[in-house]
Amino acid sequence: MTGLRYGIVGTGLMGREHIRNIALIEGARVAAIVDPEPASLDGAGCADATRFADVADLAGFDGIDAVIVASPNHTHRAILEPLFARGLPILCEKPIATTMADARWIAERAAPHPAPFWTGMEYRYMPPAQAFIAQVHAGRAGRPVMLAMREHRFPFLDKVGQWNRLSRNTGGTMVEKCCHFFDLMRHILKAEPVRVFCSGGIDVNHADERIEGRRPDIIDNSYTVVDFDNGARAMLDLCMFADGAEHQEEISVTGDRARIDLMVPPGDIIFSPRVGYGNSKQAVREHVSVDAAALAAGEHFGATYYQHLAFERAVRGEGPVEVTAEDGLHAVAMGLAAETSAREKRAVDMHEIYAAA
Ligand SMILES: NC(=O)c1ccc[n+]([C@@H]2O[C@H](COP(=O)([O-])OP(=O)(O)OC[C@H]3O[C@@H](n4cnc5c(N)ncnc54)[C@H](O)[C@@H]3O)[C@@H](O)[C@H]2O)c1
Repeated sequence: MTGLRYGIVGTGLMGREHIRNIALIEGARVAAIVDPEPASLDGAGCADATRFADVADLAGFDGIDAVIVASPNHTHRAILEPLFARGLPILCEKPIATTMADARWIAERAAPHPAPFWTGMEYRYMPPAQAFIAQVHAGRAGRPVMLAMREHRFPFLDKVGQWNRLSRNTGGTMVEKCCHFFDLMRHILKAEPVRVFCSGGIDVNHADERIEGRRPDIIDNSYTVVDFDNGARAMLDLCMFADGAEHQEEISVTGDRARIDLMVPPGDIIFSPRVGYGNSKQAVREHVSVDAAALAAGEHFGATYYQHLAFERAVRGEGPVEVTAEDGLHAVAMGLAAETSAREKRAVDMHEIYAAA
């Protein structure tokens, strides 16, 4: 297999980020694009690609080696159906689904799929996050006991048809946005969630917008606490009206030997070993640089490019599938637990969510 020929399903914001990053990979090219919106196809900038309005036509097209699914969350299951039948490698954007039933349906078909199925969880691939996670896994903090995450950012962007303004299309903010962080929690702690408590609501954003005659119902701020089965605890502090914050993402792992902090941007890691009360601090700061072209090709601190390199290795049989459909399912489950918790103002046992599927 020489350079991979990609099919892109959904050529909106994220589909175009994939297209720009595929352009950075030697030999790779986008051979086909699919979108029911002519304006999205026109804006994709792929003059040489074959255009389709329906994924069924792409599934019957010979000129591709792998498919990227970057359509709205609630469309993923229906889009994947003909792609599973075709048997090509698939990278499906997060969240893989908006309900447990759809996530389970996808995971059950991905397991026997003859080619890689990869869930797009690119926050794992921001180079500073990769370095941070490697340090935690190497034991630099000792045994991870507490994991704190903060995303303080701008409100949800406008999307084609504003599909992202309704929880029924996205799964809700805790699924749509926070699946990244729930995936990171499981990945960093190497443990499974036991229960979730989330306090959240929509208090600032989208107040003047009306979709189908009502204000969007998507959470714009929340605190979530998660207990894990290895005894570790994690929390996520999300604010979608903090566009002025210096660091969009902050992650801290505190173990029995040290604390390690990650701040993105700028991509710094701070290692703070325990020194005992009253002794001088010994924190060490390092900066993890990111390839400038990868940084410029997307909104995710270079992550999309590095995720593509890992996906390509899997497609060529030179590396594992690093983010499986099961990983995607667990992230959806945690997001749905948080949505339920916020709505019903109670802690939610993960068994409840898994049993409902
Ligand atoms: N990994 C990340 O960090 C990240 C970031 C942004 C978006 N996403 C995910 O990417 C996906 C797309 O989001 P977006 O921001 O690009 O939205 P978008 O609205 O900008 O683009 C979605 C595109 O999909 C098209 N579409 C709708 N139904 C379709 C169908 N049945 N077949 C093919 N195309 C269809 C729309 O016309 C639109 O052009 C979502 O799942 C979203 O959660 C992931």
